[in-house]
Amino acid sequence: MSRPLLNPLLRALALAGAAAFSASALAAGEVSLYTTREPKLIQPLLDAFTKESGIKVNTVFVKDGLLERVKAEGDKSPADVLMTVDIGNLLDLVDGGVTQSIKSETLESVIPANLRGADGKWYALSLRDRVLYVEKDLKLDSFRYEDLADPKWKGKVCIRSGQHPYNTALVASMIAHDGAEATEKWLRGVKANLARKAAGGDRDVARDILGGICDIGLANAYYVGHMKNAEPGTDARKWGDAIKVIRPTFANAKSGGTHVNVSGAAVAAHAPNKENAVKLLDFLVSDQAQTLYARANYEYPVRKGVKLDPVVASFGELKVDPLPLTEIAKHRKQASELVDKVGFDN
Ligand SMILES: [Fe+2]
Repeated sequence: MSRPLLNPLLRALALAGAAAFSASALAAGEVSLYTTREPKLIQPLLDAFTKESGIKVNTVFVKDGLLERVKAEGDKSPADVLMTVDIGNLLDLVDGGVTQSIKSETLESVIPANLRGADGKWYALSLRDRVLYVEKDLKLDSFRYEDLADPKWKGKVCIRSGQHPYNTALVASMIAHDGAEATEKWLRGVKANLARKAAGGDRDVARDILGGICDIGLANAYYVGHMKNAEPGTDARKWGDAIKVIRPTFANAKSGGTHVNVSGAAVAAHAPNKENAVKLLDFLVSDQAQTLYARANYEYPVRKGVKLDPVVASFGELKVDPLPLTEIAKHRKQASELVDKVGFDN
């Protein structure tokens, strides 16, 4: 056999061998994660998973268009686990048909039923409670979301755009609890109380409380973890030190509880490594991983009994609104329409 013939043959054999090898490695010890979450937030979790399980994690950071990408890849998609924030985004994945139903005793025992899909098609992994930032010297012990429309707060309220998913989820919750009519009235009342245009970010509520522009406002609790833990002397630290946190409840909810949104994950519909995908999800609700979640972004663990960051711990134990997130999500569209109708952001 002459060399020109031998070489292509060897090359073909080598390629076939490599393909077979990588296919088996894929089946034995890998899992592919598509995530919209900032890589630096979740990398420590994934490293801990690999260390414990030996399973390699291929992470693909998908900033925008996660659903479209996985849909376009179809049954050739290498994705095993899809991870994102906001219940709306999670349910869009489910409704888009790119997740699959899985069963896991670990996930079912750790994650309360209102924080996962009844069909096993999505699971919350961490909680993001929407709380009241209060000027630190203001005398105020408890608060209901409905109170934000009380005329006594006229000119004293700061909040970001009503169309931001953090706020539409809250408004959707209020529709579920109080009805659309009461919620519209509430939105008009809050709008009338605004100290400035509904804009900016959650941290700007603390900034503007420090600046004397407002006294109270709604924003996510995890930003307070970031601000109060920031280096002394930085702006973030000054904003954080200017406020205290109250966890509001809904006036009409019998059992009480604070509105939360979530970060979460699902197993992809065509996951090539389904078993490892479930292993990764199981790991993400372990005590170790939940502790890392609580430290990395100051989100509240979905697992009970996890050691919290001292700043987050100082807000007390989080009592979550028992309304199922799927119920809240049903009202998202209506919430967004109401925000527009009352000209909340104008
Ligand atoms: Fe955020």
